Amino acid sequence: MHSLFRGKHFIADQEWTKEELETVLSAAAYLKREFALNIPHRLLRDKTLFMIFFEQSTRTRNSFEAGMTQLGGHAHDLTPEKMQISHGESALDTAKVLSRYGHGIAVRNCFFEIGNKYIREVAKYSQVPVFNMQCDLYHPCQALGDLMTIKEKFDGELRGRKFVISWAYAPSYSKPMSVPQSLILLMSRFKMDITLAYPPEFYLMPKIIEQAKINAKENGVKFEIVNDMEEAFRGASIVYPKSWGGLQYLKDNNLKQEESMEISKKYIDWICDEKKMNLTNKDSIYMHCLPADRGTEVSNEVIDGPHSVVFDQAENRLHIQKALMALCMGGRP
Ligand code: CP
Repeated sequence: MHSLFRGKHFIADQEWTKEELETVLSAAAYLKREFALNIPHRLLRDKTLFMIFFEQSTRTRNSFEAGMTQLGGHAHDLTPEKMQISHGESALDTAKVLSRYGHGIAVRNCFFEIGNKYIREVAKYSQVPVFNMQCDLYHPCQALGDLMTIKEKFDGELRGRKFVISWAYAPSYSKPMSVPQSLILLMSRFKMDITLAYPPEFYLMPKIIEQAKINAKENGVKFEIVNDMEEAFRGASIVYPKSWGGLQYLKDNNLKQEESMEISKKYIDWICDEKKMNLTNKDSIYMHCLPADRGTEVSNEVIDGPHSVVFDQAENRLHIQKALMALCMGGRP
């Protein structure tokens, strides 16, 4: 296990070794304890993070910005409209200029077949670490924060636990598939048995499924896909029901998303309610990355009930991202 993180980019959990991810988890637990005890930990004093959001955010934006403040630095909250990106300035020029001013760049860009490529282009030309705050393929900080929550809830005992990521009905907007994709990739590496459930039209990207199957095989755990939410929930330790848009409808970005929303109406019974939670283990946990569509993705009784850990998940985003920033933007030279 090494301790050399300074300058590393964090674009996908899959690209970091398990030992590296364990170091982040351990640093996050340390920072969480210090935060609880009100002990200052200004590990990034006078350092600057540039956050570029192509989409809206509550948790990611505020946890990164609060995290930088707590680490003794500062974060700039940017959008393409506030920058010359809106006039077509390239990722290369943006990355090189921001590298001259500060110490880290974080980007959220979920445009289909654009977002991940854009972040990688920024990383290619950046001289400071680049963090993926969600793209069309991955939401790595969310998945790692979720892993921290699961470890906390089950005292680190993960092998053989049934982890269910299920599609759920949400009428608000067509959500990216980056969360379920990052989850199946990461949880299979950390010894959980994966069940992925969705109605036939809402399959994930084939290359991600192939990688998740490889991860599961290498780690001696199960990976199955079912088209039935109740079947998926039976015997589960962890359920993570959330909506995502259909792959075939994301291709034209906004053009076909209404079509995806229309098709999703066939599946309004894909809601996480108490009846479905009764199929899970007694000590099961209900997870959601938020924002959740209350009343359609999940009933109020479940999200506000005894199985729910959604606010612990949201909090752990702060600790995980602080650990990532402290290691990559600070850390030992
Ligand atoms: N879970 C999550 O990333 O939330 P935001 O979209 O509010 O950042």
